[in-house]
Amino acid sequence: MTHACIAGTGSYLPEKILTNADLERMVQTSDQWIQERTGIRGRHIAGDNETTSDMAVIAARSAMQAAKVGSNDIDLVVLATTTPDKIFPSTACLVQARLDIHGCAAFDIQAACSGFIYALGTANNFIRSGAAQCALVIGAEVMSRIIDWTDRGTCILFGDGAGAVVLKASDKPGIYSTHMHADGAYEELLHVSPSIARHSEALGRDPFIKMQGSEVFKMAVQTLGRIVDETLEHSNRAKSDIDWLVPHQANTRIISATAKKLEISMDNVVLTVGEHGNTSAASIPLAFDVAVRDGRIKEGQIVLMEAFGGGFTWGSALLKM
Ligand code: ACO
Repeated sequence: MTHACIAGTGSYLPEKILTNADLERMVQTSDQWIQERTGIRGRHIAGDNETTSDMAVIAARSAMQAAKVGSNDIDLVVLATTTPDKIFPSTACLVQARLDIHGCAAFDIQAACSGFIYALGTANNFIRSGAAQCALVIGAEVMSRIIDWTDRGTCILFGDGAGAVVLKASDKPGIYSTHMHADGAYEELLHVSPSIARHSEALGRDPFIKMQGSEVFKMAVQTLGRIVDETLEHSNRAKSDIDWLVPHQANTRIISATAKKLEISMDNVVLTVGEHGNTSAASIPLAFDVAVRDGRIKEGQIVLMEAFGGGFTWGSALLKM
Protein backbone atom coordinates (compact mmCIF):
# COMPACT_ATOMS: atom_id res chain seq x y z
CA MET A 1 0.00 0.00 0.00
CA THR A 2 1.27 3.48 -0.88
CA HIS A 3 1.33 6.18 1.79
CA ALA A 4 2.16 9.90 1.70
CA CYS A 5 5.08 11.02 3.88
CA ILE A 6 6.23 14.47 4.91
CA ALA A 7 9.57 14.90 3.13
CA GLY A 8 10.22 18.57 3.96
CA THR A 9 8.67 21.76 5.32
CA GLY A 10 9.15 25.47 4.70
CA SER A 11 7.60 28.82 5.55
CA TYR A 12 7.81 32.55 5.06
CA LEU A 13 6.71 35.57 7.09
CA PRO A 14 6.76 39.15 5.76
CA GLU A 15 9.25 41.52 7.34
CA LYS A 16 6.80 44.09 8.74
CA ILE A 17 5.42 43.36 12.22
CA LEU A 18 2.22 45.02 13.46
CA THR A 19 2.14 44.99 17.27
CA ASN A 20 -0.80 45.38 19.62
CA ALA A 21 0.65 48.79 20.53
CA ASP A 22 0.40 49.77 16.85
CA LEU A 23 -3.27 48.65 16.84
CA GLU A 24 -3.94 50.74 19.98
CA ARG A 25 -3.17 53.77 17.79
CA MET A 26 -5.55 52.60 15.03
CA VAL A 27 -8.70 51.41 16.88
CA GLN A 28 -10.23 51.53 20.38
CA THR A 29 -8.45 48.51 21.86
CA SER A 30 -5.67 47.58 24.25
CA ASP A 31 -2.73 45.20 24.30
CA GLN A 32 -4.19 43.67 27.47
CA TRP A 33 -7.62 43.00 25.86
CA ILE A 34 -6.06 41.44 22.74
CA GLN A 35 -3.68 39.22 24.72
CA GLU A 36 -6.34 38.09 27.22
CA ARG A 37 -8.99 37.27 24.57
CA THR A 38 -6.75 35.89 21.81
CA GLY A 39 -3.15 35.33 22.96
CA ILE A 40 -1.95 37.47 20.03
CA ARG A 41 0.99 39.86 20.61
CA GLY A 42 1.95 40.65 17.02
CA ARG A 43 1.32 39.66 13.41
CA HIS A 44 3.31 39.99 10.16
CA ILE A 45 1.89 42.17 7.38
CA ALA A 46 2.83 41.82 3.71
CA GLY A 47 4.54 44.73 1.96
CA ASP A 48 2.45 46.85 -0.41
CA ASN A 49 3.67 44.95 -3.46
CA GLU A 50 3.94 41.54 -1.79
CA THR A 51 1.38 38.95 -2.97
CA THR A 52 0.17 35.54 -1.86
CA SER A 53 2.18 33.92 -4.68
CA ASP A 54 5.36 35.81 -3.66
CA MET A 55 5.14 34.36 -0.17
CA ALA A 56 4.06 30.91 -1.39
CA VAL A 57 7.07 30.65 -3.72
CA ILE A 58 9.54 31.35 -0.89
CA ALA A 59 7.86 28.84 1.47
CA ALA A 60 7.69 26.23 -1.31
CA ARG A 61 11.39 26.64 -2.26
CA SER A 62 12.34 26.18 1.38
CA ALA A 63 10.21 22.99 1.69
CA MET A 64 11.65 21.61 -1.58
CA GLN A 65 15.18 22.29 -0.34
CA ALA A 66 14.44 20.51 2.97
CA ALA A 67 12.96 17.57 1.04
CA LYS A 68 15.93 17.58 -1.38
CA VAL A 69 13.63 17.62 -4.41
CA GLY A 70 13.89 19.70 -7.58
CA SER A 71 11.27 21.19 -9.89
CA ASN A 72 11.31 18.07 -12.08
CA ASP A 73 10.36 15.85 -9.14
CA ILE A 74 7.09 17.67 -8.30
CA ASP A 75 4.03 16.15 -10.02
CA LEU A 76 1.24 17.96 -8.14
CA VAL A 77 0.81 21.50 -6.74
CA VAL A 78 -2.10 22.15 -4.36
CA LEU A 79 -2.34 25.63 -2.85
CA ALA A 80 -4.82 26.66 -0.16
CA THR A 81 -5.74 30.33 -0.03
CA THR A 82 -8.66 32.67 0.61
CA THR A 83 -6.69 35.60 -0.81
CA PRO A 84 -5.55 34.54 -4.31
CA ASP A 85 -3.51 36.97 -6.45
CA LYS A 86 -6.18 36.82 -9.17
CA ILE A 87 -9.57 35.20 -9.75
CA PHE A 88 -7.72 33.19 -12.38
CA PRO A 89 -5.22 31.76 -13.16
CA SER A 90 -5.13 30.03 -9.80
CA THR A 91 -2.34 31.06 -7.44
CA ALA A 92 -1.14 27.43 -7.67
CA CYS A 93 -0.55 27.96 -11.42
CA LEU A 94 1.32 31.24 -10.80
CA VAL A 95 3.51 29.52 -8.20
CA GLN A 96 4.05 26.50 -10.45
CA ALA A 97 5.39 28.73 -13.24
CA ARG A 98 7.73 30.63 -10.91
CA LEU A 99 9.13 27.36 -9.56
CA ASP A 100 9.78 26.17 -13.12
CA ILE A 101 7.43 23.21 -12.70
CA HIS A 102 5.59 22.34 -15.92
CA GLY A 103 2.74 20.08 -16.96
CA CYS A 104 1.54 18.58 -13.68
CA ALA A 105 -1.86 19.39 -12.13
CA ALA A 106 -1.88 22.66 -10.14
CA PHE A 107 -4.97 24.08 -8.44
CA ASP A 108 -6.18 26.20 -5.53
CA ILE A 109 -8.34 25.08 -2.66
CA GLN A 110 -10.61 27.57 -0.91
CA ALA A 111 -11.72 26.39 2.50
CA ALA A 112 -10.80 29.51 4.53
CA CYS A 113 -8.87 28.62 7.70
CA SER A 114 -9.28 24.86 7.03
CA GLY A 115 -7.68 25.25 3.60
CA PHE A 116 -4.37 23.60 4.45
CA ILE A 117 -6.09 20.50 5.89
CA TYR A 118 -8.21 20.27 2.72
CA ALA A 119 -5.08 20.67 0.55
CA LEU A 120 -3.14 18.07 2.54
CA GLY A 121 -6.10 15.65 2.42
CA THR A 122 -6.44 16.13 -1.35
CA ALA A 123 -2.72 15.61 -2.02
CA ASN A 124 -2.72 12.58 0.31
CA ASN A 125 -5.51 11.02 -1.75
CA PHE A 126 -3.65 11.71 -5.02
CA ILE A 127 -0.56 9.95 -3.64
CA ARG A 128 -2.44 7.01 -2.09
CA SER A 129 -4.27 6.39 -5.38
CA GLY A 130 -1.01 6.47 -7.36
CA ALA A 131 -2.02 9.64 -9.27
CA ALA A 132 0.98 11.57 -7.85
CA GLN A 133 4.36 10.67 -6.36
CA CYS A 134 5.66 13.98 -5.05
CA ALA A 135 3.27 16.79 -4.14
CA LEU A 136 3.87 20.38 -3.13
CA VAL A 137 1.17 21.46 -0.64
CA ILE A 138 1.06 25.15 0.26
CA GLY A 139 -1.03 27.43 2.48
CA ALA A 140 -0.54 31.16 1.79
CA GLU A 141 -2.52 34.29 2.66
CA VAL A 142 -2.51 38.09 2.59
CA MET A 143 -5.34 38.45 5.09
CA SER A 144 -4.33 42.10 5.61
CA ARG A 145 -5.94 42.92 2.23
CA ILE A 146 -9.41 41.73 3.32
CA ILE A 147 -9.36 43.35 6.76
CA ASP A 148 -11.41 46.40 7.66
CA TRP A 149 -8.73 48.24 9.64
CA THR A 150 -11.46 50.24 11.45
CA ASP A 151 -13.22 47.09 12.78
CA ARG A 152 -11.63 46.26 16.14
CA GLY A 153 -13.52 42.94 16.27
CA THR A 154 -11.51 41.51 13.35
CA CYS A 155 -8.45 43.67 12.59
CA ILE A 156 -6.62 42.54 15.72
CA LEU A 157 -6.83 38.86 14.73
CA PHE A 158 -5.22 38.31 11.35
CA GLY A 159 -1.75 38.22 9.83
CA ASP A 160 -0.01 37.28 6.56
CA GLY A 161 2.39 34.47 5.67
CA ALA A 162 2.91 31.15 3.91
CA GLY A 163 3.84 27.58 4.77
CA ALA A 164 4.50 24.53 2.63
CA VAL A 165 5.21 20.83 2.80
CA VAL A 166 6.49 18.32 0.25
CA LEU A 167 4.67 14.98 0.36
CA LYS A 168 6.33 11.92 -1.13
CA ALA A 169 5.00 8.44 -1.89
CA SER A 170 6.34 5.81 0.48
CA ASP A 171 5.60 2.22 1.50
CA LYS A 172 5.38 3.30 5.17
CA PRO A 173 3.05 5.89 6.80
CA GLY A 174 3.16 8.93 6.69
CA ILE A 175 -0.26 10.34 6.85
CA TYR A 176 -2.60 7.92 8.63
CA SER A 177 -5.81 9.75 7.82
CA THR A 178 -7.29 13.12 6.90
CA HIS A 179 -10.83 14.27 7.64
CA MET A 180 -12.67 17.10 5.87
CA HIS A 181 -16.08 18.53 6.69
CA ALA A 182 -18.24 21.55 5.85
CA ASP A 183 -21.64 23.00 6.68
CA GLY A 184 -22.54 25.96 4.48
CA ALA A 185 -25.52 26.90 6.64
CA TYR A 186 -23.34 29.26 8.71
CA GLU A 187 -22.29 31.66 5.91
CA GLU A 188 -23.57 34.76 7.73
CA LEU A 189 -21.41 34.20 10.83
CA LEU A 190 -18.13 34.52 8.94
CA HIS A 191 -17.78 35.78 5.37
CA VAL A 192 -16.34 38.29 2.90
CA SER A 193 -19.18 39.59 0.76
CA PRO A 194 -18.15 40.88 -2.69
CA SER A 195 -20.03 38.81 -5.23
CA ILE A 196 -18.99 38.03 -8.77
CA ALA A 197 -22.20 36.01 -9.09
CA ARG A 198 -24.43 39.10 -8.90
CA HIS A 199 -22.88 42.11 -10.60
CA SER A 200 -19.36 43.12 -11.49
CA GLU A 201 -19.69 46.42 -9.54
CA ALA A 202 -20.22 44.46 -6.32
CA LEU A 203 -16.67 43.13 -6.58
CA GLY A 204 -15.15 46.38 -5.40
CA ARG A 205 -17.61 47.00 -2.59
CA ASP A 206 -16.86 46.35 1.09
CA PRO A 207 -14.39 43.53 0.47
CA PHE A 208 -13.78 42.85 4.15
CA ILE A 209 -14.14 40.02 6.65
CA LYS A 210 -17.40 40.12 8.61
CA MET A 211 -17.45 37.93 11.68
CA GLN A 212 -19.76 37.29 14.61
CA GLY A 213 -16.78 36.44 16.82
CA SER A 214 -18.38 34.92 19.89
CA GLU A 215 -20.72 32.67 17.80
CA VAL A 216 -17.76 31.49 15.71
CA PHE A 217 -15.79 30.90 18.90
CA LYS A 218 -18.47 28.60 20.41
CA MET A 219 -18.91 26.62 17.17
CA ALA A 220 -15.13 26.24 16.79
CA VAL A 221 -14.66 24.82 20.29
CA GLN A 222 -17.56 22.32 19.96
CA THR A 223 -16.63 21.21 16.44
CA LEU A 224 -12.91 20.78 17.12
CA GLY A 225 -13.73 18.58 20.11
CA ARG A 226 -15.74 16.29 17.82
CA ILE A 227 -13.11 16.14 15.06
CA VAL A 228 -10.45 15.09 17.57
CA ASP A 229 -12.62 12.12 18.65
CA GLU A 230 -13.42 11.20 15.03
CA THR A 231 -9.74 11.23 14.04
CA LEU A 232 -8.56 9.09 16.97
CA GLU A 233 -11.41 6.59 16.55
CA HIS A 234 -10.79 6.27 12.81
CA SER A 235 -7.14 5.31 13.29
CA ASN A 236 -7.71 3.35 16.48
CA ARG A 237 -5.38 5.58 18.44
CA ALA A 238 -5.45 6.78 22.04
CA LYS A 239 -5.09 10.40 23.11
CA SER A 240 -1.80 9.43 24.75
CA ASP A 241 -0.37 8.40 21.34
CA ILE A 242 -0.28 12.03 20.17
CA ASP A 243 3.16 13.63 20.56
CA TRP A 244 2.25 17.02 19.08
CA LEU A 245 -0.90 19.00 18.39
CA VAL A 246 -0.40 21.49 15.55
CA PRO A 247 -3.68 23.41 15.52
CA HIS A 248 -4.96 26.18 13.28
CA GLN A 249 -3.74 29.32 15.07
CA ALA A 250 -6.90 31.40 15.58
CA ASN A 251 -7.06 32.01 19.30
CA THR A 252 -5.15 30.60 22.30
CA ARG A 253 -8.42 29.98 24.16
CA ILE A 254 -9.80 27.80 21.32
CA ILE A 255 -6.48 25.93 21.15
CA SER A 256 -6.38 25.35 24.95
CA ALA A 257 -9.92 23.96 24.86
CA THR A 258 -8.88 21.42 22.18
CA ALA A 259 -5.72 20.52 24.11
CA LYS A 260 -7.83 19.95 27.23
CA LYS A 261 -10.17 17.66 25.27
CA LEU A 262 -7.11 15.73 24.03
CA GLU A 263 -5.67 15.64 27.57
CA ILE A 264 -2.41 16.90 26.10
CA SER A 265 -0.13 19.36 27.91
CA MET A 266 0.23 22.83 26.35
CA ASP A 267 3.96 21.95 26.22
CA ASN A 268 3.04 19.54 23.42
CA VAL A 269 1.01 22.09 21.49
CA VAL A 270 2.76 24.14 18.82
CA LEU A 271 1.62 27.68 19.53
CA THR A 272 2.55 30.46 17.10
CA VAL A 273 -0.62 32.56 17.28
CA GLY A 274 1.16 34.95 19.68
CA GLU A 275 3.65 36.01 17.00
CA HIS A 276 1.78 35.20 13.77
CA GLY A 277 -1.88 35.99 14.55
CA ASN A 278 -4.42 34.06 12.47
CA THR A 279 -2.90 33.51 9.03
CA SER A 280 -5.88 31.39 7.87
CA ALA A 281 -4.76 28.63 5.46
CA ALA A 282 -1.09 29.41 6.17
CA SER A 283 -1.26 28.97 9.92
CA ILE A 284 -0.83 25.19 10.25
CA PRO A 285 2.07 24.77 7.79
CA LEU A 286 3.74 27.86 9.32
CA ALA A 287 3.47 26.46 12.87
CA PHE A 288 4.50 23.00 11.65
CA ASP A 289 7.64 24.34 9.96
CA VAL A 290 8.61 26.35 13.06
CA ALA A 291 8.45 23.23 15.28
CA VAL A 292 10.17 20.95 12.74
CA ARG A 293 13.03 23.41 12.26
CA ASP A 294 13.55 24.16 15.97
CA GLY A 295 13.79 20.40 16.57
CA ARG A 296 10.66 19.95 18.70
CA ILE A 297 8.89 17.69 16.19
CA LYS A 298 11.13 14.68 15.54
CA GLU A 299 11.16 11.74 13.18
CA GLY A 300 8.88 8.91 14.31
CA GLN A 301 6.59 11.18 16.36
CA ILE A 302 2.82 11.40 15.87
CA VAL A 303 1.27 14.74 14.99
CA LEU A 304 -2.38 15.78 14.98
CA MET A 305 -3.37 18.83 12.93
CA GLU A 306 -6.84 20.39 13.16
CA ALA A 307 -8.63 23.45 11.81
CA PHE A 308 -11.94 25.29 11.78
CA GLY A 309 -12.88 28.23 9.60
CA GLY A 310 -15.24 30.09 7.32
CA GLY A 311 -17.78 27.99 5.45
CA PHE A 312 -17.99 26.63 8.06
CA THR A 313 -15.27 24.16 7.19
CA TRP A 314 -13.31 21.97 9.54
CA GLY A 315 -10.90 19.07 9.37
CA SER A 316 -7.92 17.19 10.74
CA ALA A 317 -4.89 15.14 9.77
CA LEU A 318 -3.08 12.48 11.78
CA LEU A 319 0.44 11.63 10.66
CA LYS A 320 3.73 10.06 11.61
CA MET A 321 6.89 12.06 10.92
N1 ACO B 1 -10.65 45.59 21.82
C1 ACO B 1 -11.41 45.91 22.86
N2 ACO B 1 -12.70 45.52 22.98
C2 ACO B 1 -13.19 44.78 21.98
C3 ACO B 1 -12.44 44.43 20.85
C4 ACO B 1 -11.12 44.86 20.79
N3 ACO B 1 -10.29 44.58 19.75
N4 ACO B 1 -13.20 43.68 20.03
C5 ACO B 1 -14.39 43.56 20.61
N5 ACO B 1 -14.41 44.23 21.79
C6 ACO B 1 -15.48 44.37 22.75
C7 ACO B 1 -16.84 44.13 22.15
O1 ACO B 1 -17.34 45.31 21.52
C8 ACO B 1 -17.65 43.74 23.35
O2 ACO B 1 -18.00 44.91 24.06
P1 ACO B 1 -19.45 45.04 24.74
O3 ACO B 1 -19.51 43.92 25.76
O4 ACO B 1 -19.39 46.41 25.32
O5 ACO B 1 -20.42 44.85 23.61
C9 ACO B 1 -16.67 42.96 24.21
O6 ACO B 1 -15.36 43.35 23.75
C10 ACO B 1 -16.81 41.45 24.06
O7 ACO B 1 -16.89 41.12 22.68
P2 ACO B 1 -16.99 39.64 22.18
O8 ACO B 1 -17.01 39.62 20.67
O9 ACO B 1 -18.07 38.91 22.89
O10 ACO B 1 -15.56 39.09 22.69
P3 ACO B 1 -15.00 37.62 22.70
O11 ACO B 1 -14.59 37.25 24.04
O12 ACO B 1 -15.89 36.66 21.95
O13 ACO B 1 -13.65 37.79 21.85
C11 ACO B 1 -12.88 37.29 19.63
C12 ACO B 1 -13.70 38.23 20.51
C13 ACO B 1 -11.44 37.36 20.08
C14 ACO B 1 -13.00 37.72 18.19
C15 ACO B 1 -13.38 35.83 19.79
O14 ACO B 1 -14.78 35.80 19.67
C16 ACO B 1 -12.80 34.87 18.78
O15 ACO B 1 -11.63 34.56 18.82
N6 ACO B 1 -13.64 34.31 17.91
C17 ACO B 1 -13.25 33.28 16.96
C18 ACO B 1 -12.40 33.80 15.83
C19 ACO B 1 -12.05 32.63 14.93
O16 ACO B 1 -11.62 31.60 15.39
N7 ACO B 1 -12.31 32.73 13.65
C20 ACO B 1 -12.20 31.48 12.88
C21 ACO B 1 -11.51 31.47 11.74
S1 ACO B 1 -11.43 32.93 10.78
C22 ACO B 1 -11.57 32.43 9.12
O17 ACO B 1 -12.05 31.38 8.82
C23 ACO B 1 -11.18 33.41 8.01
